[in-house]
Amino acid sequence: MSANLASFLYLVSGVLFIMALRGLSHPTTSRKGNLYGMVGMGIAIVTTLVYATPSFGGFVLIVAGIAIGGGIGAVIAKRIAMTAMPQLVAAFHSLVGLAAVMVAAAAMYAPESFGIGTLGAIHAQALVEMSLGVAIGAVTFTGSIIAFLKLDGRMSGKPILLPMRHIINASLAIALVVLIILLVTTQSTTIFWLIVAASLVLGVLIIVPIGGADMPVVVSMLNSYSGWAAAGIGFTLGNLALIITGALVGSSGAILSYIMCKGMNRSFISVILGGFGGETAAASDDGIDRTVKQGSADDAAYLMANAQKVIIVPGYGMAVAQAQHAVRELADKLKAAGVEVKYAIHPVAGRMPGHMNVLLAEAQVPYDEVFELEDINSEFAQADVAYVIGANDVTNPAARDDKSSPIYGMPILDVDKARTCLFVKRSLGSGYAGIDNTLFYKDGTMMLLGDAKKMTDDIVKAMDH
Ligand code: TAP
Repeated sequence: MSANLASFLYLVSGVLFIMALRGLSHPTTSRKGNLYGMVGMGIAIVTTLVYATPSFGGFVLIVAGIAIGGGIGAVIAKRIAMTAMPQLVAAFHSLVGLAAVMVAAAAMYAPESFGIGTLGAIHAQALVEMSLGVAIGAVTFTGSIIAFLKLDGRMSGKPILLPMRHIINASLAIALVVLIILLVTTQSTTIFWLIVAASLVLGVLIIVPIGGADMPVVVSMLNSYSGWAAAGIGFTLGNLALIITGALVGSSGAILSYIMCKGMNRSFISVILGGFGGETAAASDDGIDRTVKQGSADDAAYLMANAQKVIIVPGYGMAVAQAQHAVRELADKLKAAGVEVKYAIHPVAGRMPGHMNVLLAEAQVPYDEVFELEDINSEFAQADVAYVIGANDVTNPAARDDKSSPIYGMPILDVDKARTCLFVKRSLGSGYAGIDNTLFYKDGTMMLLGDAKKMTDDIVKAMDH
């Protein structure tokens, strides 16, 4: 295959990746988006195999690698619970980081194979690209491992705040810049490994102070880093597809992190500097009357069947209970009885972007009944019932009304404006941010304490009576 043809095919796969991202931006086009991505990746892999594989042995090794890695990945992806997806993504990102480090090490020791000079006489430009790729890759590797451990509950989600951490991190970052300059001037392999070591430590130090509540943003940020690491390595390898893909992953990860920060009203800098999350529930001596009105499935069925408009607000608890099918059944019953039903999705409901949309799509909820926060928030005032199922923080009025709340300023779904708010959860405990929800104690709220799926099933049954 000629270099020109390979470049053309890489360009085609790059265009397909862009179309994939475009498609993934809406549920109705997301299947097509996935397909574009898969075809693009297929073209990129085949092109690389045909164009860049040096020997038959090399070809066999690559195919074996793809088969083993792909096989393991497919099994893990099939088995993983939807609620454990963020930690899986974090674990996979760590591998991207590690791969970037390994490719850079290979290029350092065998530069001839990469066409970037000879041992001890590597082109300066390649050394800069390589050192950036290896530094970002190593930060991504250890950072993602810490994110995985925190999200998987194997390490406390509480922020670990080292004394003088900002000074230590800044010194390490400066040391890295100095080491990169030294690598370019001396070509020393020892310096190369010092860059790797400093970056591995930096990855740990950047992520340990970040609390559990900010972890999904961190995963998205590490996703972005892994993209930039891949792009850096793409320059070293002279591989156009890797440069395009890395840049797309890097920039889309950065945009997603920004959207999530906006959804939680957190500045990106304050997330990176860490500290939020893992707090305990607020003290109960703040003057709020903490009596709650508790109801049963029968009460809920009566209220909903007599409503004109019901807005369903799903959250993380719906995912845990796998209640999406029961919710769909409830909505079908209501619609059959002439009730208008809509779904309201908060941008950070659940544990990852789009979490609720995916679950509702799985239960075949029509897309035109599902609305984003800004499109539906004004409708709660006209709704008879807001059915909040396993959502908590994203409905907390403290975010709107209490300046001292850690989530003050976070946009929320105004479920308290509905005539009645039916709130399904198992206890009066707090949500992910660890803060009390004053909505439980409001006059218009009826708590339906129990598992989200069981409660919804019971309401459906009660409606048949
Ligand atoms: P949460 O505030 O975490 O509340 C979920 C509630 O579900 C919990 O209070 C829990 O209460 C309840 N629950 C758990 N299992 C249940 C079950 N089997 N049946 C019924 N209820 C159950 O969730 P949310 O409202 O979706 O908010 C998301 C949180 O994640 C926010 O704090 C957000 O900032 C954070 N976050 C999300 C993202 C993204 S992108 N999604 C990114 C960063 C941060 P009980 O234990 O009493 O049942």
